[in-house]
Amino acid sequence: MKKTVTLTFSDGSPSIELPIEQGTYGKPVIDIRTLGAHGYFTHDPGFTATSSCTSDITYIDGDEGLLYYRGYPIEQLAYQSDYMEVSYLLLHGELPTAVQKTAFEESIRHHSLLHDQMENVFRGFRRSAHPMAVMIGVTGAMSAFYHEGNDLFDPKHREIVAHRLIAKVPTVATWAYKFNEGQPFVYPQNHLSYAENFLHMMFSTPCEPYVPNPVLARALDRIFLLHADHEQNASASTVRLAGSSGANPYACVAAGMASLWGPLHGGANEAVLKMLDDMGDVSRIPEYIKRAKDKSDGFRLMGFGHRVYKNMDPRARIIRETCYEVLDELDLRDDPQFKMAMELERIALEDDYFISRKLYPNVDFYSGIIFRAMGIPPSMFTVMFALARTSGWVAQWNEMLSDPAHKIGRPRQLYTGPERREYVPMDQRGA
Ligand code: ACO
Repeated sequence: MKKTVTLTFSDGSPSIELPIEQGTYGKPVIDIRTLGAHGYFTHDPGFTATSSCTSDITYIDGDEGLLYYRGYPIEQLAYQSDYMEVSYLLLHGELPTAVQKTAFEESIRHHSLLHDQMENVFRGFRRSAHPMAVMIGVTGAMSAFYHEGNDLFDPKHREIVAHRLIAKVPTVATWAYKFNEGQPFVYPQNHLSYAENFLHMMFSTPCEPYVPNPVLARALDRIFLLHADHEQNASASTVRLAGSSGANPYACVAAGMASLWGPLHGGANEAVLKMLDDMGDVSRIPEYIKRAKDKSDGFRLMGFGHRVYKNMDPRARIIRETCYEVLDELDLRDDPQFKMAMELERIALEDDYFISRKLYPNVDFYSGIIFRAMGIPPSMFTVMFALARTSGWVAQWNEMLSDPAHKIGRPRQLYTGPERREYVPMDQRGA
């Protein structure tokens, strides 16, 4: 028998019975959709206790430290799969066959070039513009190039949108960097893998040959895979909400990027590097640990703790290994800043304050260190995150539009403003 919950009211109003739904995993949810008809809404700013949709894509258990994409544990995917396969999985729900994977990769390669006219969009920005601002602007501008003839209710059209976005974001990201640097834009090369192509467009110049380092390409691919989706976070919810009106999908993904840009979401890895720069030397770690524990000091140890994971984030465990592989490959284990980061990690993992509060190093702690080791500047860190998350955003958007029950997102509010009052003409408003 289906479980229900009964709402009773202290003023004697008739009680309301609501169904309880249980997903594959996770907390049961009370289906409140009929509440409006009874004259009530619920109030939940920040959606801390509200499920905004049903989804088959990603499952997170923060207490247990679990992350599944389409049911597959992140560890299995990180060690046995790659970003292209995971992008296919997120989008289509199943792992591809060899033929499907080859076709998917071919399609992504085929779409990686930007419309020639888009170069002019980049050139409209000032050189010093933050690469994330350029990324948002250029991705949004794609809506001007791909608008007519989009039938969002045709699965084939949605697939083309998804492929285009996954294919073009590395080109947009690296060109945002090149524009900052004053270097010529580098075109994608179809013989390279997705991660190799990123390294090529980011670091090569027309002056000399460039061969992407396979260890760095593998590390990058793993970082992309680990960041590909994280269920209904702020940016994915933004893409869904924007897309729920049937808006142009390139504009919707640009909106998701804008949400990701915030320091409370995608900006933390940049903050980790800033903290390490400020710290300057291993000898100052105790001072920073002391400040982090001091409740009268607003300072927090950047790269530690997570809103959802109250156990080690499974992605952090994997990315930590990748971090050491990259540092070894680049012979940076003895670099003073990386030594400082590793010492900070060691102390925090042993300190009772952090242990008792379940404050583990998070994925941002390690990704910032890896990116810097690779020569990617902090201003590009959120861009890297946006690039990786694009496959998740398009999968979430596609899932929403393919649901026949989909509705425009329209939250309610608890109005606390003034009661009705009469307009006062200017000459009667006093000084
Ligand atoms: N340094 C020191 N103390 C911390 C930290 C930290 N990084 N994070 C949490 N705490 C303490 C809090 O002061 C609080 O202590 P108290 O119980 O004595 O009052 C306790 O741990 C719980 O903290 P909350 O703020 O309730 O935890 P919440 O889940 O709301 O915060 C958050 C999570 C925002 C990530 C927080 O840990 C933080 O600010 N971390 C640093 C920033 C960071 O690294 N963000 C990246 C997150 S990962 C991602 O977005 C992909």
